[in-house]
Amino acid sequence: MAISTSSAINVLFSEEEIARRVEVLAREICSDEPGELLVVVVLKGSFVFAADLIRALERVGASAQVDFVTLSSYGVGKKSTGTVTLTHDLVEDVKGRSILLVDDILESGRTMAFARKTLLERGADSVKTCLLLDKPANRKVDIEADYVGFSIGDEFVVGYGLDYAHRYRGLPFIGTLPAD
Ligand code: IMP
Ligand code: MG
Repeated sequence: MAISTSSAINVLFSEEEIARRVEVLAREICSDEPGELLVVVVLKGSFVFAADLIRALERVGASAQVDFVTLSSYGVGKKSTGTVTLTHDLVEDVKGRSILLVDDILESGRTMAFARKTLLERGADSVKTCLLLDKPANRKVDIEADYVGFSIGDEFVVGYGLDYAHRYRGLPFIGTLPAD
């Protein structure tokens, strides 16, 4: 797939739609989890979503601490390699904490399953998952997200933190690349 200019990308979810959905998710999370959360942001793809989500959580009265982990299952292409590697670990101790694990897309489910298992093994009290997007068509592992922004079909999307070959993360909307 060629690199496209941002104007050639088909908008799937606009900036406004995303903003509205993030506010709704924050309200749901806040009413389910009124205590103090440790938001674990899975880099790199979810940093834009997480930045909006933690501010939405503050607006609805939930204060969250934040930490980051870098997990990788993709190379530079569009297919997952199937193996998840932890390339940058958390700083915080998760023992006894209520965790909200935030990632961009639930596709095969391997990344979330690996992250969830790792946090529980380290003694987290609870781990809820919050995904900007759910792509259920390619699921390989039995896992469902607790909170989902939008469900999508079997298509490759970019923008709002998501990349293709390290590009497009800064697009304010989520879209699909034109076919080759
Ligand atoms: P999983 O382990 O297969 O669930 O992988 C999910 C990860 O693959 C996400 O965190 C993304 O980084 C990446 N990914 C999956 N689908 C897409 C896509 O459509 N666009 C960009 N990245 C994607
Ligand atoms: Mg990712």
